[in-house]
Amino acid sequence: MTDTLTIKTPDDWHLHLRDGAMLRAVAAESARHFARAIIMPNLVPPVVTGAHAAEYRDRILAALPEGADFTPLMTLYLTEDTDPDDLARAHADGLITAVKLYPAGATTNSASGVANFDRVRPVLEKMAEIGCPLCVHGEVTDSEIDIFDREAVFIERVLDPIRRATPGLRVVMEHITTMQGVEYASEGGPELGATITTHHLVINRNHILAGGIKPHYYCLPVAKREEHRLALRRAATSGDPTFFLGTDSAPHTDANKLLPCGCAGCFTATNTLSILAEVFEAEGTLDRLESFTSINGPKFYRLPMNEKTITLTKGDPVEYPSHIDTDDGPVTMFDPMMPLHWRVTR
Ligand code: DOR
Ligand code: ZN
Repeated sequence: MTDTLTIKTPDDWHLHLRDGAMLRAVAAESARHFARAIIMPNLVPPVVTGAHAAEYRDRILAALPEGADFTPLMTLYLTEDTDPDDLARAHADGLITAVKLYPAGATTNSASGVANFDRVRPVLEKMAEIGCPLCVHGEVTDSEIDIFDREAVFIERVLDPIRRATPGLRVVMEHITTMQGVEYASEGGPELGATITTHHLVINRNHILAGGIKPHYYCLPVAKREEHRLALRRAATSGDPTFFLGTDSAPHTDANKLLPCGCAGCFTATNTLSILAEVFEAEGTLDRLESFTSINGPKFYRLPMNEKTITLTKGDPVEYPSHIDTDDGPVTMFDPMMPLHWRVTR
């Protein structure tokens, strides 16, 4: 029986680190196990220029614990006013790794996102030309579309037309949650990748809604039916290079999660690797954990793989705190509702 596993140090290809007190509290949680992360730009106000990205990167570096070996890979928040030349300069300088597309109104702090996709065509063409990937929050926002269908409709009405109109554009479908997402990504060729979160491998919509509403399981895109969760588990554990880890760890204070109109997001940075090892072991695919956490992502982003390794060891159930403390208030940690036996020991 395998009880230790050494893998190249993982990267997180979709992470919310926030700013200020929250950033200072959560930065160490990701830096402990991950070497790099794609940093989401949905701050208030959002990170929309190369200059903003440089300033935010400095604040992240200042928030890391001393001696941490963690590289934030910065992104720009795409708006209808994004300047293609500023973007290209920031990419050429190595300041940004990707650009994030939020459909306006799709999720937390997405009000400045894109409403009219024709208006960002010149930016997308520039990105295709310079090889800068577009990370996409793939949900339509039309109020008449059922929230459980918004990903599938987005693929058909928005994503596929954008990709056809912009040959060469490299796209990451972020946090896919449906079998339609899995299918579209796996048929998209080498220019299309997809991230999968930790929590979408664990919860389905019953976990949010059955037996009382569970705000800590509410995130966007919202978890779907069990058949979709199973499709995500098959994709993540398949070894297919299309799929890689993006935790979408998205801390909100408990006060903000528990409001009558509570925030979307699951905070998974701390226990993600224990959860993933448990999931991959349950699927009989522990030997593919490294592909998902540490190999497929850098291959898609054309970055070197990490040379350092981490070791996971199986033992008695891992005790996790229920929350972390921040100067803004407590943040509840994602509860996977199962004992976790794998801990990062080195
Ligand atoms: O659940 C989510 N939380 N989904 C998102 O797309 C945004 C994120 C956040 O920023 O809180
Ligand atoms: Zn996110």
